[in-house]
Amino acid sequence: MTPLRLPGIEACVFDAYGTLFDVNSAARGAQDELGPRWQPLAELWRSKQLQYTWLRGLGGHHADFWSVTSDALSFALESLKVDDPALHSRLMTLYLSLHAYPEVTDTLQRLKAGGKALAILSNGTPRMLASAVNNAGIADLLDAVLSVEEVGVFKPHPSVYRLAADRLQLAPEQICFLSSNGWDAYAAKAFGFRAVWCNRFGQAPERIPATPDGQIATLAALPEIVIA
Ligand code: LAC
Repeated sequence: MTPLRLPGIEACVFDAYGTLFDVNSAARGAQDELGPRWQPLAELWRSKQLQYTWLRGLGGHHADFWSVTSDALSFALESLKVDDPALHSRLMTLYLSLHAYPEVTDTLQRLKAGGKALAILSNGTPRMLASAVNNAGIADLLDAVLSVEEVGVFKPHPSVYRLAADRLQLAPEQICFLSSNGWDAYAAKAFGFRAVWCNRFGQAPERIPATPDGQIATLAALPEIVIA
């Protein structure tokens, strides 16, 4: 197979949760209390969180990602028969300082040195994103941190992807969008971005409109794809 190359890219726009930041690191951080239940909790919390974004979007009942994340955690804890408000609060606090994946800082530095504009485009609230970005020490590398709160609807609504193109003042095809959430990469491609799926967990291809330009296993492979 010929290696993936995407010429003409001016900016790389990253999904936040699961792509730059490890969403499982919150539940893992409370392993002392949760024991082996941290893993099913993390999975249920994440899947419910995403379902709630889609359900709220379809129903026209937007609430911000902090509320949705809290509701999803309440559902996950109750499903696992954990009734502990202090643990709920601790896990939400941990969500504000999720670990960045190990290759993130180096990859952003290489892209920046290669002349690319860099941005985050995420469901997260501005406060959640600022906290994660500052905790990871990557604020100086980013030209923009964009939250769906500016458009009042979650991904994959096209107005979210349009926000990044508008803010960066670029045509969609000049932007390479990165997400480890397959559905997000597919939707970004359907919008008109070039899209690369950072398929960290080797998931099967989605069956929804548009197919990303390519897949990588970690973000470390990105610079050679977009830097000429
Ligand atoms: C985000 C979710 C989809 O950061 O991971 O937008």
